[in-house]
Amino acid sequence: MAKRHLITTALPYANGPLHIGHLAGVYIPADIYCRYLRAKGEEVLLVGGSDEHGVPITIKARKENTTPQAIVDRYHVIIQKSFEELGISFDVYSRTTKPIHHETASAFFTKLHENGKLIEKSSEQYYDEEVGEFLADRYITGTCPQCGNANAYGDQCEACGTSLNATDLINPKSALSGNTPVMKETQHWYLPLDQYENWLKEWILEGHKEDWKINVYGQCKSWIEQGLQPRAVTRDLNWGVKVPLVGAEGKVLYVWFDAPIGYISATKEWCEQNGQNYEKWWKDDETRLLHFIGKDNIVFHCIIFPVMLKAEGSFILPENVPANEFLNLENDKISTSRNWAVWLHEYLEDFKDKQDVLRYTLTTIAPETKDADFTWADFQAKNNNELLAILGNFVNRTVVLIHKYYEGIVTAAGEYTDEEKEVIAKIAEFPNTIGASIEKYRFREALAELMNLARLGNKYLTDTEPWKVVKTDPERVKTILHLSIQICACLSVLGEPFLPFTSQKLQKILNINIHNWNDGGKVDLLKAGDKINAPEYLFEKIEDAAIEAQVQKLPK
Ligand code: MF3
Ligand code: ZN
Repeated sequence: MAKRHLITTALPYANGPLHIGHLAGVYIPADIYCRYLRAKGEEVLLVGGSDEHGVPITIKARKENTTPQAIVDRYHVIIQKSFEELGISFDVYSRTTKPIHHETASAFFTKLHENGKLIEKSSEQYYDEEVGEFLADRYITGTCPQCGNANAYGDQCEACGTSLNATDLINPKSALSGNTPVMKETQHWYLPLDQYENWLKEWILEGHKEDWKINVYGQCKSWIEQGLQPRAVTRDLNWGVKVPLVGAEGKVLYVWFDAPIGYISATKEWCEQNGQNYEKWWKDDETRLLHFIGKDNIVFHCIIFPVMLKAEGSFILPENVPANEFLNLENDKISTSRNWAVWLHEYLEDFKDKQDVLRYTLTTIAPETKDADFTWADFQAKNNNELLAILGNFVNRTVVLIHKYYEGIVTAAGEYTDEEKEVIAKIAEFPNTIGASIEKYRFREALAELMNLARLGNKYLTDTEPWKVVKTDPERVKTILHLSIQICACLSVLGEPFLPFTSQKLQKILNINIHNWNDGGKVDLLKAGDKINAPEYLFEKIEDAAIEAQVQKLPK
């Protein structure tokens, strides 16, 4: 493995709260990945932040008759708080309106400009005469020339993922007034993506054919093969990072130019607070850079941002971009405008102390290779029939029996039977099996393996029947419960990336504090004579009424 790992997560737009789609596709997988690496003793930095520029934010401000700053201040707090409550273990969660980001993005642009990496061009762009403004990106809507979606934006079609220029749209309309826009002359700076075509072919199409996910590789391939065009990196807007050139008044950097630089600014911020030089994270080949994103962000992270980094010349490039597909809700596309979503901050209120149930459900259905579906019925079933019935039940049976027979003191193991030796050999494999899946970004598979360890524990108890044997051979029971409690300890170590709250609770019950991944395969984490704490339920049953209430909350 590399020396250190720099893990970034797509910066959510601070124009609305987070929903389960964001979590399943980006933040939960990234968090699992980072918690795992930390448990392996690796040096990790998990970077996040709010994307606070761009047209979606100014549109929202206009709608609510307030300022963009007021909008981002409101949502940044909501987003950051709910990430924290869900246990997303960011080392830094920054914002792109911070001065450090404006300085970093501005300097990046200046360097590209001074080194002749940008093209300066005058062109006709859409302009809304009634409002007196140029119509950048989402201020313009129309029909996608690729797929026919009638609500494509001036910079991207969300239906097919294609990245667009506003002039590509059929039937363009101003989002400000609904009018058909006119063309007006304006000057902008462009990143000549076309000049990087050969390099991209070599770097992605040849270099990452094997290791990038097929959905990611496929999108890059079709994009590169369609031929790349120079892309404007500035806009006529008054919200964003000002273009640092004389004569560029009223112009800002395109949000997709400044936002990924936010990963660099956030790293700098963390480094300043922790006495480190950010260059070790961004300019050293011993760092592995990974971007966790959703599929609508693929071209920006695989093509545009890497071209920016390459043009700048001193930064490392991403080693992988494990993008996920989309999550649906009750068989329908999640939609903010229709309020067809499960909002994280509401979930956290309605299901206090059940963060891990959501983390678990979303991981088991993560849209890793194709779109997936969240249903409340499935959420309930996963809690009641898996977390509670398999994991919770095994731990509870073990802890209760140790209290019942031995007042909570861990007994010594006698001679292990052949079956037990087999169980022990199987346990030893789990750290590697689960780890291998995580390292391949197969989080569903990894979590299924963890549950197999709990199943192994349950089966062991069912096969050995200590509650019966205690009457005939009490010495044997000491061995059985010794081994069972070891399995509980392994579950607490290996479960931590997926179910951090449960793991912590379990370690409290077991009176241990073990966070080293490879210890999760050992059967000596508790010693004879160790005292464990009173049993506590790890999960509780979720009743039909709670589920019904959530279903009722969805719009009709
Ligand atoms: N705000 C964007 C979105 O929600 C993601 C930005 S990712 C970054 O789709 F790299 F630009 F930061
Ligand atoms: Zn389209």
